[in-house]
Amino acid sequence: MDKLLIEGGRRLAGEAAISGAKNAALPILCAALLTREPVTFTNVPQLNDIGTLLKLLGQMGVKVSRDGDAVTLDASVIDNPVAPYEMVKTMRASILVLGPLVARCGEARVSLPGGCAIGARPVDQHIKGLQAMGAEVQVEHGYVHAMVPRLTGARLFTDMVTVTGTENLMMAACLANGETVIENAAREPEVVDLANCLIAMGARISGAGTDVIRIRGVESLSGTTHRIMPDRIETGTYLCAAAATGGEIRLTRTSTAYVDSVVDKLMDAGCDVTSERDAIRLKAPARLTSVSIRTSPYPAFPTDMQAQFMAINAVANGAAMIRETIFENRFMHAVELQRLGADIRIDGNTAVVHGVERLQGATVMATDLRASASLVIAGLVADGETVIERIYHLDRGYERLEEKLAALGARVRRLT
Ligand code: EPU
Repeated sequence: MDKLLIEGGRRLAGEAAISGAKNAALPILCAALLTREPVTFTNVPQLNDIGTLLKLLGQMGVKVSRDGDAVTLDASVIDNPVAPYEMVKTMRASILVLGPLVARCGEARVSLPGGCAIGARPVDQHIKGLQAMGAEVQVEHGYVHAMVPRLTGARLFTDMVTVTGTENLMMAACLANGETVIENAAREPEVVDLANCLIAMGARISGAGTDVIRIRGVESLSGTTHRIMPDRIETGTYLCAAAATGGEIRLTRTSTAYVDSVVDKLMDAGCDVTSERDAIRLKAPARLTSVSIRTSPYPAFPTDMQAQFMAINAVANGAAMIRETIFENRFMHAVELQRLGADIRIDGNTAVVHGVERLQGATVMATDLRASASLVIAGLVADGETVIERIYHLDRGYERLEEKLAALGARVRRLT
């Protein structure tokens, strides 16, 4: 199994281009199920999760063609509206096919994702929403089986803010009979990117980006071309990596517009961050000042950046409190960071991090995608060599990581 070897202690400097957003691409590729016409997406990142989803769509009957960062999907025929356990278990986002399949085919069988490294992550809100729109839903033999001749518009209210829940229900509502209102909707930029793609396909959606989204169902959607937005979590991760190493970098093909809360914290930590058209510059001090964070739905601080901030606080000056409010088990990286010499204490959903002068390289294990990103950041600042095991987690969400880090001056090598 591949490992990543990092020789720490080098200051990151230079330029890197940010890829398209994984968490925008996943729902947007599923949106192609809603139309018989071909849809072309550009700026699609080459990641394992994207490969898994394309395979899943392929086995449903969707014709998939890929050319660099462009993907064309032709869902004129869907002969198998099923998402099997084998695929869903490797990628929870497979649940995003549920809404489009029910809306388009009147039936779907999607495996329940089950728990994962960061928490239980149920999909009850997805199911509740489809039921409110008239679907008959049974959960049997580990599968969600939903059926309805045509969905009916409804007023939906989710118990908590859910990103893929909002996306699934918004896609389903596009072909429903009448108006659907999603209250307590997620406001994440990826929801807005999906809405923009659906609108370009002929959907009638207003309010995306606010907590009330209105969708007036139409009879059918058409093909379009859509460019996926930049990955704000990849952007934030490279900003943190540069910040931790006292570096100076410029990230292109991205924008501070998507990472306001992260940039604010990096500035509190002592970094200079400047916004350019489609680029961001960051210049870090020799040593950062600790910053406390609390994760919350967008536009507040993202849970997907929590682990990376734990890593930068591990070597910053002072103490910080990190509170995780979205997932109940998202501190698995803390013990691995401790193996590198970090001073972190966990109490429930709160971690207290006392910055140390230096971390020391060691062998550590990645437990999930963002946890692995925090270990990369720690490895970049640690003395000596750090080996990260189970880096398939990294390959799910960071395109050409070694290449981009090497271009910024890091010494990183994949051991196969
Ligand atoms: N929840 C429920 N029931 C539901 C849906 C959600 O209880 O039916 C709970 C979850 O267990 C969690 C909270 O609601 O405690 C919020 O979860 P949400 O549904 O928003 O998460 P998600 O849609 O499954 C997406 C991202 C995650 C990101 C979260 C939060 C995608 C494909 N995934 O997950 O990304 O952490 O939103 O922002 O968009 C990652 O990229 O590393 C990643 C985990």
